[in-house]
Amino acid sequence: MSLVEDARHVRENAYVPYSHFKVGAAIRAASGAVYTGCNVENAAFPEGTCAEAGAIAAMVAAGDTEIAEVAVIADSPHPVSPCGGCRQKLAEFARGDVPVTLATVAGATLETTVSELLPGVFDQSYMSRP
Ligand code: THU
Repeated sequence: MSLVEDARHVRENAYVPYSHFKVGAAIRAASGAVYTGCNVENAAFPEGTCAEAGAIAAMVAAGDTEIAEVAVIADSPHPVSPCGGCRQKLAEFARGDVPVTLATVAGATLETTVSELLPGVFDQSYMSRP
C-alpha cells in the first residue's frame, strides 16, 4: 500500500466534531516502518492535535526518529497544506530533502519536500556553541 493510501485509511478515524475536517498522515521511517496519525480535536479547541503530530508521536513511541517520507491527505479542494507547527515538527525528524506528498481525497497530489515547506527552519544547529 502506498503511503498516501495509508494516510487515506487512518484519516477515517479522525475525531473532528468541531471542524468536521478529517486529516490523515503517514510517515515512513528510515527503518522502513510506517506510522500513521489522524487529527484529534477537543472541546477546549487549542488542545486538539494535528494528524502529523499523531504520526510523529507514534513513530517516536515505537523507537524511530528518522523520517524518510511523508504523506498527508484531506478532503480539501487542493492538496492539503500542513500547518506551520506541523512543518516544524516534521523538520525535527526529517532532512530537508525528505519527500512529502500532499493529497486530496479526490485524488489530486502535490509533491514537495520538508525544506520547501519550511525554508529557514530553526533547528538544533542554532543552539550549538563553538
Ligand atoms: N489539521 C491537521 O490535522 N493537519 C494540518 O496540517 C492542518 C490542520 C487539522 C487540525 C484541525 O483538527 C482541523 O485540521 C482544522 O484545522
